[in-house]
Amino acid sequence: MNLPPVIAIDGPTASGKGTVASLVAQKLGFHYLDSGALYRLVALASEKEGIDVNNGPALGQLAENLQISFRGGQIFLGGEKVTQAIRTEANGLRASNIATQPSVRGALVGLQRSFRQKPGLVADGRDMASVIFPDASLKVFLTASASARAERRYKQLIAKGISAKLEDLLQDLEERDARDSSRGASPLVLAKGAQVLETSNLSIDQAVQTVLDWYQSTSA
Ligand code: CDP
Ligand code: CDP
Repeated sequence: MNLPPVIAIDGPTASGKGTVASLVAQKLGFHYLDSGALYRLVALASEKEGIDVNNGPALGQLAENLQISFRGGQIFLGGEKVTQAIRTEANGLRASNIATQPSVRGALVGLQRSFRQKPGLVADGRDMASVIFPDASLKVFLTASASARAERRYKQLIAKGISAKLEDLLQDLEERDARDSSRGASPLVLAKGAQVLETSNLSIDQAVQTVLDWYQSTSA
């Protein structure tokens, strides 16, 4: 059986994965999976339930039974709209903590793979190419310098009216990079066969076009 094609886009925080992946999906008419949102949802739910970030068994059970839905561009946890709440820097840091737990990662595998539907999927995260979709048609490792990424995150927050300090963002980002790359369970790595896209000096359009060109050449 031929499974629908997948474009896997992994990379560190604020490298532009979400922006580039969703635009590539739009251009190709593919589905889009923001896998980080799932870790962010488990992080938020665990905070609400008062579960410690080191309590692997309880976090795994929570992730297994997560009541989530995606409707009209919004994300719901239980019945509550949490689209904005999951995006805070504090919840991002909590997400990177709970994402070190193998119980949480294991609980989310099936859900992530269920997004692979016709005509195809663009998936972004840390382990899309290495663990979740090792047979992806195209594997992209999207990156940019830490300072370019901190600057992007800063502009993104200011545009949303959220106050932020560039130095704090750079520190959070380096902390998150270190944890995501050094953890034992599914660390952020350059997967076998992945192509590196360095975007420090690329516009969003240029990054999107490069991914589309690479995809055309894999399917040519
Ligand atoms: O998903 P991830 O954390 O990797 O990053 P993102 O939220 O997609 O992108 C972070 C910010 O960088 C967004 O505001 C993008 O518009 C911006 N960006 C950019 O300025 N240049 C790029 N080549 C890619 C993203
Ligand atoms: O937007 P940003 O790149 O900062 O983060 P995200 O993609 O929303 O993911 C939040 C956190 O979830 C990351 O710091 C990772 O620790 C974790 N994550 C993961 O471990 N595996 C994934 N496939 C996606 C996210």
